[in-house]
Amino acid sequence: MSHRILVTAALPYANGHIHIGHLVEYIQTDIWVRFQKLRGRRCLFLCADDTHGTAIMIRARQEGRSEEALIADMRHAHLRDFGSFDVEFDNYGSTNSPANLALCRQIWEGLRQANLIVEEEVTQLFDVEAGTFLADRFVKGTCPRCAAPNQYGDNCDKCGATYSPTDLKDPVSTLSGSRPELRSARHLFVRIESLHDFLNDWTQSGNHLQPEVANYLKGHFLGEPLRDWDVSRPAPYFGFPIPDSPGNFWYVWFDAPIGYLASLAEWCARHNESFDDWWPRGADAPSRGAEIHHFIGKDITYFHTLFWPAMLKAAGFKLPHQVHIHGFLTVDGEKMSKSKGTFIRGEVYARHLDPSYLRYYYASKLTSKLDDLDLNLQEFIDKVNSDLVGKVVNLASRSAGFVQTTGLAAQYPDDGGLFAQAAAEGEAIAAAYEHRDFNTAMRLIMGLADRANRYIDEQAPWTLRKDPTQAERLQQICTVTLNLFRQLAIFLAPVLPRLARQAGELLHAPIQHWSDAQTPLTGTAVGKFQHMLKRVDPDLVQKMLADSRDEAAAAAPPATPAAASTTDGPEALAAEPLTPTCSFDDFAKVDLRVARVLAAEEVKDSNKLLRLTLGLGGEERRNVFAGIKGVYEPAALVGRLVILCANLAPRKMKFGLSEGMVLAAGPGGKDIFLLSPDSGAVPGQRVH
Ligand code: MSP
Ligand code: ZN
Repeated sequence: MSHRILVTAALPYANGHIHIGHLVEYIQTDIWVRFQKLRGRRCLFLCADDTHGTAIMIRARQEGRSEEALIADMRHAHLRDFGSFDVEFDNYGSTNSPANLALCRQIWEGLRQANLIVEEEVTQLFDVEAGTFLADRFVKGTCPRCAAPNQYGDNCDKCGATYSPTDLKDPVSTLSGSRPELRSARHLFVRIESLHDFLNDWTQSGNHLQPEVANYLKGHFLGEPLRDWDVSRPAPYFGFPIPDSPGNFWYVWFDAPIGYLASLAEWCARHNESFDDWWPRGADAPSRGAEIHHFIGKDITYFHTLFWPAMLKAAGFKLPHQVHIHGFLTVDGEKMSKSKGTFIRGEVYARHLDPSYLRYYYASKLTSKLDDLDLNLQEFIDKVNSDLVGKVVNLASRSAGFVQTTGLAAQYPDDGGLFAQAAAEGEAIAAAYEHRDFNTAMRLIMGLADRANRYIDEQAPWTLRKDPTQAERLQQICTVTLNLFRQLAIFLAPVLPRLARQAGELLHAPIQHWSDAQTPLTGTAVGKFQHMLKRVDPDLVQKMLADSRDEAAAAAPPATPAAASTTDGPEALAAEPLTPTCSFDDFAKVDLRVARVLAAEEVKDSNKLLRLTLGLGGEERRNVFAGIKGVYEPAALVGRLVILCANLAPRKMKFGLSEGMVLAAGPGGKDIFLLSPDSGAVPGQRVH
């Protein structure tokens, strides 16, 4: 077996923020990588932003800025979120990088030489006003089968029919609202069918895929000829131009997986290592280089188990050792939902709750299967509180203080075999990690924690501390307890790197290797017990949901479809907008008026919103929801003057219709500035 391991997680789209669904994957992969590193293996964890495609282009256009500016902001946000969840990459690249362009060219060259590229005419809907061909999700119209209106270009959610957007009756572009016309263009295709035998082989033998994935591919794709894969898009498109096909760009799914190679190339350049030692190319590639592992979600199976191996094979690169596929996250048994507040961005989660909770909870749920994973919020609270706080951290908090002045005993005392038993279970725990059966690993570790807790409960060190004749006994009990605690911290280190670090600090012995769990510590000093993990506060869970709900409600309704379809993911838009620049023309449209607050009340079920009734002079009244709850007492607002954006399109919110927006500014917290009471402004007055 190769001693180098190269691990990737799927490259997140640069058109949306990281949410707790994504985090299933990044946390799963990070745990596996940390485990490999703790076992002393040379392991790299590579990732990048997936930056190309129509969705990014359209969004940048809507926000009035360049794609580069948009993806730079998103990169920053993604790295911040990964960092806060302790997801630690060895390199984080971008598909819009020179390294990726160079590798795309190499692979393209390989495909050309293998004679796998063919040209075909494709007729597609073209939006004349927006000047672009329309991906399926950007067209709506009447279902050709059941005549339901307002259906997307790829399938009907009324009758379930799937079709091509050119079949839609009365198609309308969701970009401009105009009626698109048919236009044709030359597209470049990869003839995957030439690699059918290879793909049969690679997917069905050699243990590269989970058995259920191998069966799915056999049943759904490999039983018939594989269709050519369309890898080009005509201008305008945000991507890399195809060098030998002017006016055409590589489709985002062509250059995205190549981003794995590019991220490695960047890492190698930075560390002065040879790319070829990690991801070799050529006839002898299979016997050289690293063991390559991809972690992905089930929605992108096809790309990673058929297209990607085909591309690597055709270009002569080493193939992945395994593609590990996980299921999707549900929250309380349902799809994540913006209106229920369960569509939780990583940043919103981290604002309220400790990321270690989520890492542990996901670990306790993850297996090597493709089953969806449910975040049950009550179970989340209970599990973290009872396991991590109640069984693990408690061992240290109930013993460390008694040996702070003496340190650990010089000799490891008789513990009835507890330490040795736990040490012996290390291999079973390691095997569970290795096979991505984190659920089993967590169960085994909590079994050990139960035994350690029985020990401390029986020995009850707190009853000995007042009796000076029992000082030695007290030190022995605490030496055992802290060593059992340390063993747990080592076994949990891949999941809870912070806890492992804190345990190392407490006992003045950093955790560096899995095998540290084999030998008890003796004679070392014990630091002051520092708080390690708080109990989960259920109120904070509710606050997190309320914030997620409010933020989803406050985000502008997407001008383009927000739903992601499985095959067309990159074309779907995320609903959360970044701050766009506002052109002068945009600004000129804004009608700002002075208004008087006639009534103000708190909106129940929202921890941000106040309902304001505003008078604009004369009889004109507006109902507006403003996110300033907790800043002003509603009663203190009545009679005050505010500035209102009066021509904001009315928006239906969960709580009612909002007919404008109040302008306010301030540093956050208690201070938000509205017009001063004696400003002399008059309701209805225009602001210039
Ligand atoms: N950009 C592509 C991947 C290109 S890889 C060469 C993509 N990006 S994504 O941002 O939509 O998703 C990134 C990863 O997160 C994917 O593996 C996807 O399956 C996973 N998940 C996204 N939402 C998820 C859940 N709700 N639950 C679990 N995993 C999810 O796909
Ligand atoms: Zn229909």
